[in-house]
Amino acid sequence: MTGNSDNQLPPISALKNTLADNTTYKNTNIAWFDRAKHVIPGGVDSPVRSFNSVGGTPVTVAKGQGAYLFDVEGNRYVDLIQSYGAIIMGHADPDTLDAIRNAMSRGTTFGAPTTGEVLLAEEICSRVPGCNLIRFVSSGTEAAMSAVRLARGYTGRSRVIKFAGCYHGHSDGLLAAGGSGIATIGLPDSAGVPPSSVNDTIICPYNQVPPPDILDENIACVIVEPIAANMGVVPPVPGFLEGLRKACNSVGALLIFDEVITGFRIAYSNATALCEVTPDLYCFGKIIGGGLPLAAFGGRSDIFSMLAPEGPVYQAGTLSGNPLATAAGLSVLRRLNRDAYSRLQAKVKQFATELQSCFVAAGTKAWVSQYGTLCSIFFGAGSEVHNYEESRIAASTVTSDGTGMYAAFFHRMLKQGVMLAPGPYEAMFIGMAHSDSDLEYILNAAKKASSGLCAA
Ligand SMILES: Cc1ncc(COP(=O)(O)O)c(C=O)c1O
Repeated sequence: MTGNSDNQLPPISALKNTLADNTTYKNTNIAWFDRAKHVIPGGVDSPVRSFNSVGGTPVTVAKGQGAYLFDVEGNRYVDLIQSYGAIIMGHADPDTLDAIRNAMSRGTTFGAPTTGEVLLAEEICSRVPGCNLIRFVSSGTEAAMSAVRLARGYTGRSRVIKFAGCYHGHSDGLLAAGGSGIATIGLPDSAGVPPSSVNDTIICPYNQVPPPDILDENIACVIVEPIAANMGVVPPVPGFLEGLRKACNSVGALLIFDEVITGFRIAYSNATALCEVTPDLYCFGKIIGGGLPLAAFGGRSDIFSMLAPEGPVYQAGTLSGNPLATAAGLSVLRRLNRDAYSRLQAKVKQFATELQSCFVAAGTKAWVSQYGTLCSIFFGAGSEVHNYEESRIAASTVTSDGTGMYAAFFHRMLKQGVMLAPGPYEAMFIGMAHSDSDLEYILNAAKKASSGLCAA
């Protein structure tokens, strides 16, 4: 079944609308954002989508197609956001849409086991070392929160170590010193989180193994992005993940890899393919749902024997393992073989090298960080960034007129039809739908955007 969904959608011009109070809105980005602000806080459903850190008005998306987004005004953008990494086969990928339609024709949610969740769980467990059992949830936030609860239940301990600049979703205990949106909007923590919720969260600098007086017998788990991608892309230094594994083993703490971004993005499986360290628990999200809300936490069977209904650690979800999302995820994963990742890695590596050359040629001080299939730009940095401190210094680099370097570059790219994330801490997501000519287009735009772009 292929179905042309465009034929069934109202034309974009018909989205011009009249509210109940007869306010008429034009079909422009500004008008839609204005309208959004009346009913949605800040006009966005997630702070990372706001333009607060770059200035201006968010683009309201009318549709996506492959590597492109189209806004309500009909402008086309080569998209490097790709739903913050949830999309890897491109927007409106026909095979994914077919899988969703097929699943949808049988019903959208049942509150009972389905074949789709079993097939997807088998696919994931067969790829990921040490992932014997997996429980599906609906968001990465839930996955990380539940993994930590399970680790606490299993060890009987309360304390959790996380690393500054790593983001594990917006649950109370894990929000402290998060990267991504919380870094962009300048909140080290969040109002509304009682101190008691973070009493047992210990923040350590990324890329340093916490010393034995911190990572001791009171620690239930260490949660880490094995390749950090929420403070820009910050690779693990040699020995960091290996050191964490060793230190956790010696005190009986569990090691959790939050691979909500890196899982099935960085490699055929996950970060273990690149770093050869196996954690006790994993968190996955984004790609495994094929663009629909799905995430998961998985790991060793003996730990999972503690999870309800087998054990005393409670965790649940009405829409968990949703059949549309598992069908979409399975369709995507089954097409991503090892060759596909090798090709994508080569593509991203070449892109990052050329982007770096373009900054060098323009005299723009910037470091293009690349690891596997992920990359990001640190303006103001002249070499590899290792932690949140260094990432924040880079992100605060301004041009001679006081505009943030990233903000200036972002708008110059947007004007040329390239959609970067509206914040300096996000990765650029290049996927299967980005053709060589799309990447060439981005590089040409970057050449123009970096001309005269200098730090103060
Ligand atoms: C590493 C990581 N963990 C957890 C999350 C939270 O996922 P979600 O936004 O689906 O709640 C994110 C979101 O970007 C993430 O990057």
